[in-house]
Amino acid sequence: MTFLELAKKRFSSRKYLDKGIERSKLELLLEAARVAPSAVNKQPWLFYVFSSPEGLEKIRPCYHRDWFKTAPVVIVAVADHKAGWVRSSDGKDHCDIDLAIAIDHITLQATDLGLSTCWVCNFDVDACKKALQLSDSFEPVALIPVGYPAEEKESIRFETERKSLNTIVRWL
Ligand SMILES: Cc1cc2nc3c(=O)[nH]c(=O)nc-3n(C[C@H](O)[C@H](O)[C@H](O)COP(=O)(O)O)c2cc1C
Repeated sequence: MTFLELAKKRFSSRKYLDKGIERSKLELLLEAARVAPSAVNKQPWLFYVFSSPEGLEKIRPCYHRDWFKTAPVVIVAVADHKAGWVRSSDGKDHCDIDLAIAIDHITLQATDLGLSTCWVCNFDVDACKKALQLSDSFEPVALIPVGYPAEEKESIRFETERKSLNTIVRWL
């Protein structure tokens, strides 16, 4: 698979098979996150992996969707705002950018392994902070349900589901 084929194979999966994920595959997802670039190489992140029945019971109430309960694993990507790079010229905190790159590494690595994922940001942040017992400088940025997909999507969808290059690119 070329990189572009992999990128087009990834999709937001909202239905998973009732099948566990091999520990070795989960470790590859986390390794993909570990090697991601970050501003000034600060690596301001933590990844919580919920895979046990007790763990999943704690994280599932943070996002009330029936499909979310079908994921056998949920990874929570957490930003450590005390560790991230802040641009001195305007005070911009780069944690969101750093975390987004690491999360994208996870979703693409998952796709490469035949797994599927979905970014979830519309979750109950306070409930998640409580579930993870996070102090104020730590922010859960996204929940990433992971599982074997119960359905696939065709990459032809990008012809209609994305803006055209003409619309988004300016050649100068
Ligand atoms: C930052 C971000 C936040 C998202 N949050 C949610 C979410 O809370 N719930 C959800 O079902 N999908 C969420 N999505 C998935 C998007 O809806 C999805 O990526 C988009 O519609 C494109 O579809 P695709 O991922 O299948 O290509 C999110 C995606 C991104 C990148």
